[in-house]
Parts: sequence; structure tokens; C-alpha cells
Amino acid sequence: MSNNKGETFEWKIRDRGRMKAAGQPEESEASSPSKQPMLRLGVLISGSGSNLQALIDAIESHELPGVEIVLVVSNNIDAYGLERAHTHHLQAMHLPWHNREECEAKLTTWLQLFQVDLLVLAGWMRILSAPFLSQFPRRVINIHPALLPDDGTGSSYTTSDGATIPVFRGLHAVRQALDAGVKITGSTVHFVTPEVDAGPVICREEVAILEGDTEESLHERLKVVEHRLIVDAVRKLR
Ligand code: GRF
Repeated sequence: MSNNKGETFEWKIRDRGRMKAAGQPEESEASSPSKQPMLRLGVLISGSGSNLQALIDAIESHELPGVEIVLVVSNNIDAYGLERAHTHHLQAMHLPWHNREECEAKLTTWLQLFQVDLLVLAGWMRILSAPFLSQFPRRVINIHPALLPDDGTGSSYTTSDGATIPVFRGLHAVRQALDAGVKITGSTVHFVTPEVDAGPVICREEVAILEGDTEESLHERLKVVEHRLIVDAVRKLR
């Protein structure tokens, strides 16, 4: 990957497993051999940032030990999530997303500088390219407001009540579920692959669609579930 000045970016999100295997413990490890190094999260947002807030709250309340948020990036300067980051004294950056290649090169640089271990897409509304993602296998996760099959692929999903429903991907997944008239939808945290909303599942939960639900009311209920799921997913990857 290179930027517009022709500089090449070969940096990768730090591979914690490999670092340990190579016998290069961090300072904290050296002083306390049994203690794992902190998992350093980068969080990409575009909007409200309620999932970012769920992570902040879980960390501050010690429900997510050994995890810290070292960088928040938003493509949208008006994202409320940026205010949340500032309120909690997190390093936050605005990255206007004009040219994907240039922006991804910048993002790669920041991920290296901040030594990000795991990148969380929490309401991030831009598609990341295959070359960018190939630098960070199984180190980029996303939360999607619909149910995805275990391996993330395929066009149908079987809910716990035995119904087969379509897999709703991309924009407006909540509205797609309502329009399709399904009884159950849900949210999924999954690894990010170049195909949009199609990576292997880390965790997911079903949510019943109620009579009279609007896109807003359903999305609000889904978010309540998401706030738990995103914390569970990070805990699993810790
Ligand atoms: C969430 O519903 C998530 O599933 C989707 O975007 C929404 C982000 O919400 N990808 P927030 O910005 O975390 O409040």
C-alpha cells in the first residue's frame, strides 16, 4: 500500500501472539510475567457512537479488564461519538474520507503509531478495501444490525423458531427486515472481510420484531443488544 507521495506503508496492527512467541514481552509483561499486555482498541465511528460508549462504559466499570481504547477515528466531523471520545479523554481523529486509498494509508499509519491490536467498526459507514484488510487478518470486527450465518456467507439464516429468513446486508438492514415482514431479526458482531457484512461471526443475538415496530423503535432495541454484544466480542478476543 502506498500514499500519494509514493511512500510505502508496510505496517501492521501489532500481532500480540507473535510478539509473545518471539520472546519480546512488553514492559508490563516483564514486570509481571503472568499479566497479559493490554489489548489496545482502535474504534472507527461515523455517527452517534453508542457502541463506542458501551465499550467506554465497560472499560471504566472494569467489566472489560485488560482492554483500553487508544484511538477513535471518525470520517464525520459532526459525529456525536467524537464528543463521547473527548468527554472520556480519548485520542480522537477526524479523517475526511475523500479518497479511499489515501485515507486507508493514513489510517494504517495511525493504527501503527497507536499500536492498535484490534480495530472495531462501531457504526463505521465506509467500506474498507481488500488490500487494507489483508494487513489485519481477524483483527478488524464490525457490528451489523441483522443476523448473519456462522461463516458470514450465504443468503439465508435459520432463526431459533425454525424460520428461514433472508440475510440483510449493507445499508438499512433494519428497514430491510421490517419490509421483508420477518418476525425475528437481530445483531451480529463479525470479523470484517472484503465482502460487506459477510465475515465469520463472533457473537450474535436475536431480537423479536414487535407489532407496530418502526425502523427507529426496532433499531433502538437492537442497539441495546449490540451494546452487550460488542463488549462480549472484545472480551472473547482479549
Ligand atoms: C449500529 O446499529 C450498528 O449495528 C450499525 O450502525 C449502528 C451504529 O450505532 N453498524 P452507534 O453509532 O454505535 O450508536
